[in-house]
Amino acid sequence: MIGHPFRLFPNPRHGVPGVVVLPEGGWRRARDAITAWPGYAPTPLLPLEDVAGALGLASVHYKDEAARFGLGSFKALGGAHAVSRAVAQELARRGIATNATPTDLESGRYAAATAGITVTCATDGNHGRSVAWGARRFGARCVIFVHPGVTQGRRDAIAAFGAEVREVPGNYDDSVRASEVAARDGGWLLVSDTSWPGYTEVPREVMQGYRLMAEEALDAMPAPPSHVFIQGGVGGVAAAVSVALRARHGSSPRLVVVEPDRAACLLASAEAGALTTVPGELDTVMAGLACGEPSLLAWQELERAAFAFMAIPDSSAIAAMRLLAQREASIRAGESGVAGLAALVLAAHDPAARAGLGLEKESRILLFGTEGATDPDLYDRLVSAQDVDMGPFTPLLEMKNYNMPRTPLK
Ligand SMILES: Cc1ncc(COP(=O)(O)O)c(C=O)c1O
Repeated sequence: MIGHPFRLFPNPRHGVPGVVVLPEGGWRRARDAITAWPGYAPTPLLPLEDVAGALGLASVHYKDEAARFGLGSFKALGGAHAVSRAVAQELARRGIATNATPTDLESGRYAAATAGITVTCATDGNHGRSVAWGARRFGARCVIFVHPGVTQGRRDAIAAFGAEVREVPGNYDDSVRASEVAARDGGWLLVSDTSWPGYTEVPREVMQGYRLMAEEALDAMPAPPSHVFIQGGVGGVAAAVSVALRARHGSSPRLVVVEPDRAACLLASAEAGALTTVPGELDTVMAGLACGEPSLLAWQELERAAFAFMAIPDSSAIAAMRLLAQREASIRAGESGVAGLAALVLAAHDPAARAGLGLEKESRILLFGTEGATDPDLYDRLVSAQDVDMGPFTPLLEMKNYNMPRTPLK
């Protein structure tokens, strides 16, 4: 497609039985903890009726995570939850409290002890913000590792929670390694959103937190989705969505995992039939998705549960941001948050992709707008850029009688 070339890889292992990556007990614990946090409210599920009409689909729903706990993205659910679990476990290990709850931690009851605990992680922006927020709430010290590509706006948002932000050379995967070394050397708690052999417990908690976003969306959907488009960085959120979908609706909804074409490590893994790393700068505007190494846990779920993988260009994400900005002022979506919508528009306009994914007039699509304008300056620059090739997005912008409902379903 002129201007927006994309790749679609149907997963040959779709439906093959595999391991349980997110046990139900851990999910219930995460749900009960997070829904009891002050300020918890489900984010809205918005019906994009005219987008569905223009694409020849029965329905398109967009779960808008922009308002999640005031942090701007779904990541608020994962990192902060894992921080509370890790800090509580550390208090137990030190013989201070056997089962400290998030409420105990927030009350300051163990403040003297938690002040001596440091949590750390690497981030492209959103995960670090969640971990820093959690550390402040639960009374721990926090050091966040970033690579040079993380914008100042995103660093400032992390530092605003009192965390120390440390830059290290290289890409996201290099900053993950730096955080791992620092944690080992300093006796700090590593709260990573990605997992690898021997390090799965904490990232599993992170993913259990993400699952709440998926469960809320499925609760609010008027009918089960036939297709779900979800963006992938290391794959954690896509895997959490996949687990929630399978638990409710078996393998019939088709899960499409969407990545930037310059950081498509999940697609590369699917093509290779094994977890595969994409090296290099991973230079994409979709900063939250700029990951070259899949998470082991995520891959264990997605290798058999994803129906297809797509890799899309930056230009299509910018076009999708503009579509939402121009047609529906209340949806301010960040670069990484719109990848699913961008992929849907591209696939729906391409006859081979449309047929391959089985996108038909009866199809009910669920999208996750995983972030709002998490870097407002960058957001403004991207949506007002003059030289964006809107390609297949143009007919959507020019739709007559465009009348997107303003009332969320939930
Ligand atoms: C807004 C947004 N969407 C999606 C993702 C992808 O999540 P994961 O790395 O778990 O695949 C991220 C990761 O940072 C993100 O910030």
